[in-house]
Amino acid sequence: MSGLFITFEGLDGSGKTTQLQRLAASLAADGHRVVTLRQPGGTALGDRIRSVLLDSKSEAELGAIAPEAELALMFADRAQSLKQVILPALDEGSIVLCDRYTDSSEAYQGAGRELGADRVLALHQAVCNGIQPQLTVLLLPPLEKSLARARRRNERHIRKTGSDENRFEREGEIFYRRVHEQYETIARREPQRVEVFAEEASIESIAERILDVVHKRLER
Ligand code: TYD
Repeated sequence: MSGLFITFEGLDGSGKTTQLQRLAASLAADGHRVVTLRQPGGTALGDRIRSVLLDSKSEAELGAIAPEAELALMFADRAQSLKQVILPALDEGSIVLCDRYTDSSEAYQGAGRELGADRVLALHQAVCNGIQPQLTVLLLPPLEKSLARARRRNERHIRKTGSDENRFEREGEIFYRRVHEQYETIARREPQRVEVFAEEASIESIAERILDVVHKRLER
């Protein structure tokens, strides 16, 4: 693995996707080879899994998705994108920016769905060989702010398309509180890997700070 593997994490509506795109553009402008992807998704198999997992109409067609099945599907997606996209790109020396990875499973399925972090981490060892990014950018603004933003975005999406894409965004505040707390736990447990951006600041200033952190990692 000679490239640099960076993941972006945070609640729905935390702004991580915007920051990932900004970072990708800055690094590409500096002449780096950059590969971006999101989880679930990023491969043909992953896109199928994504639509099963996120489409709010899935459960009408398929019946209630068991939390354990949801967890296993997240890891099926992850295994495929590691093999097909992430590891080959790192071998070629690219910088890989991945929108969500195993921390999402620990936070959403482990804590949100209460399956337990230990179970998620055991699965990560078994399925992903324990492969972790060198850096995780965790955007963790105050919970209330993220919730409001996610709600606004979902309403816009419903107005535009008549359907709400994301099964997860229908979850209540207690679910998201557990997710938020688990992200805090992960950050405390692995301070070397996880950089937290917790305060409210402009997109611009957070983007600059992220770029700074990444430049330091590249110098190592
Ligand atoms: P995404 O499009 O990443 O949403 P956002 O842009 O709001 O982050 O949607 C992914 C959803 O899937 C998100 O609600 C979190 C959930 N998810 C999990 O529950 N577990 C996982 O392992 C992953 C990768 C995502």
